[in-house]
Amino acid sequence: MHSILITGGAGFIGSHLVRRFVQRYPNYKIYNLDALTYAGNLENLKDIESYPNYKFIKGDITDGHFISQIFETYKFTHVIHLAAESHVDRSIKDPLSFVKTNVIGTVTLLNAFKELWSSNFTDKLFYHVSTDEVYGTLGDTGFFTENTAYDPNSPYSASKASSDHFVRAYGETYGLPYVITNCSNNYGQNQFPEKLIPLFINNIINKMPLPVYGDGNYTRDWLYVIDHAVAIDTVFHKGKLSETYNIGGFNEWKNIDLVRLLCRQMDERLGNKENSSEELITFVKDRPGHDLRYAIDATKIKEELGWSPSVTFEEGLSKTIDWYLNNSEWLNSVTSGDYLSYYQNQYEKI
Ligand code: NAD
Ligand code: DAU
Repeated sequence: MHSILITGGAGFIGSHLVRRFVQRYPNYKIYNLDALTYAGNLENLKDIESYPNYKFIKGDITDGHFISQIFETYKFTHVIHLAAESHVDRSIKDPLSFVKTNVIGTVTLLNAFKELWSSNFTDKLFYHVSTDEVYGTLGDTGFFTENTAYDPNSPYSASKASSDHFVRAYGETYGLPYVITNCSNNYGQNQFPEKLIPLFINNIINKMPLPVYGDGNYTRDWLYVIDHAVAIDTVFHKGKLSETYNIGGFNEWKNIDLVRLLCRQMDERLGNKENSSEELITFVKDRPGHDLRYAIDATKIKEELGWSPSVTFEEGLSKTIDWYLNNSEWLNSVTSGDYLSYYQNQYEKI
């Protein structure tokens, strides 16, 4: 029997992954550990909370005593580690909280896993979910491969790079069985509206300015979140130990082009006059250290493990917009309270 700890399972990607594992693998016991920060929301998992193979545990990955206790109690054979502070702009304002959760939290989990299993690591796995941002930035051409040197530019990506290094170091030093995946920008339902796509959907609904950083000529490689969950499932079951796999959408968009597409799709759905949302586009002060371009070469996972994205960007974006329009209660609940002061602080000039 697998006893699987998924950390950060109440967040955006984690909730899609928890749902997939709970529904597809009734013989696995899935433990979802989450501190329920501003980004974690149990509403994301309402539909599966009563499944017999699912258990939620509220707790903080940086609390060593608590983490040791739950490893001792539940004897997790596998860890899929997603819990993190995940927003670049927040990392610019408060780097230390990223060091705490992303670095110290990861090492705390590695220690507990090592303590429990170091006498016999057979059939055990520590799966670390990471980001393409560890590679830094690309110029106008080229792709990130698994051999690209780490060159992080933001406090967020530096903390994720550091956590990747610790996972690898525990593999080398203690023989801890691990895999790491580095994924590109995700989008889809349940993403917190501080990230580009849900932020702009919410602002279009409320006819608020769409704050495009700099000239908008920054490029990201977008992947539908459910395709990411499928990729994690694939690597979990078929990936080779001590390997890294890049995951990406083969889907590059300049921010400004993506925003224009989003505006057109939103205008159609809302029955707005043509181009009315585009009028909300406002160019604002750039993000410091803003990476110009990310693009993943996902050949390895495609050729070795047979994974590729299943949803086109137009389909994925359309489903995402529909979900936000049909779930105004979710959106309203997460955009009240603390969100308002975050928003004011981050976007005070507009
Ligand atoms: P998210 O911010 O939506 O969710 C993070 C979750 O972690 C939340 O539920 C939060 O409550 C929980 N958490 C935070 N600190 C915690 C702590 N100290 N203890 C326990 N739980 C804690 O993040 P996401 O976008 O779903 O990203 C999940 C993972 O995937 C992160 O590791 C991120 O670096 C990585 N990633 C994200 C993307 C993306 O585009 N969103 C792309 C590649 C990789
Ligand atoms: O590449 C993977 C990463 O993608 C993940 O590791 C991160 O957790 C995730 O947050 C995401 O990081 P980005 O910084 O790329 O995502 P974000 O949605 O914040 O921004 C996407 C692009 O849009 C980026 O070029 C900055 C720009 N942007 C963002 C916001 C929030 C704007 O122009 N205006 C905005 O208000």
